[in-house]
Amino acid sequence: MNIQDAKFLMSNSRVEDCPAPTLPEYAFIGRSNVGKSSLINMLTNHKGLAKTSSQPGKTQLINHFIINNNWYLVDLPGYGYAKVSKDSRVKWQRMINFYLRKRENLACVFVLVDSRHSPQAVDLEFMEQLGSEGIPFVMVFTKADKQSGTRTQQNVLDYIQKMEETWDEVPRHFVTSAEEKTGRDEVLDFIQEINRQLAETPDNA
Ligand code: GTP
Ligand code: MG
Repeated sequence: MNIQDAKFLMSNSRVEDCPAPTLPEYAFIGRSNVGKSSLINMLTNHKGLAKTSSQPGKTQLINHFIINNNWYLVDLPGYGYAKVSKDSRVKWQRMINFYLRKRENLACVFVLVDSRHSPQAVDLEFMEQLGSEGIPFVMVFTKADKQSGTRTQQNVLDYIQKMEETWDEVPRHFVTSAEEKTGRDEVLDFIQEINRQLAETPDNA
């Protein structure tokens, strides 16, 4: 898929205030600092579209971007950042849970995990929750440029094996690097295919 146009639309804390749910939507989520905002910039070929930082906790709200006037990309705040107060953590959880449950045009969630790390409980639990609520998601292994390809492959394999312990069918995954633009075509083609399927399905939701 070609990206002809990518625009920031708005930031919200309440799902009720998000743009009218008339277009398919793809949300990026994962631990703080995993590379959600960087991946959005890489996919859209638009440095600075989503705000990034080497300090965790940069993204704080539900950020909507509109792509090709045809679908929404959503940048979400990260979870699992230890230095956040309990209060803000609870607020975050409430905001995200509402968003994930109520957003009727949510076509797929991209759960980002760092390709350098072994499976972390907080990510596995988050995916369990998505699964139990029937929210469709795929996995993205980020920052693949930080190590050798062999190392990344091994880590991905270990991760999938861990998932197989609890999942009958492990969700699809992508390997990306925002630095080297790895995985860009794969992710965009995947989104394009879902958009195509949704356009063909009569709207009876
Ligand atoms: P929060 O909004 O704080 O939850 O973080 P985030 O998940 O949006 O991460 P962000 O995109 O801000 O990136 C965090 C840090 O990781 C930044 O310093 C990025 O430059 C770096 N980073 C992100 N993706 C990559 C990547 O693919 N390769 C490398 N080498 N660095 C990356
Ligand atoms: Mg961010």
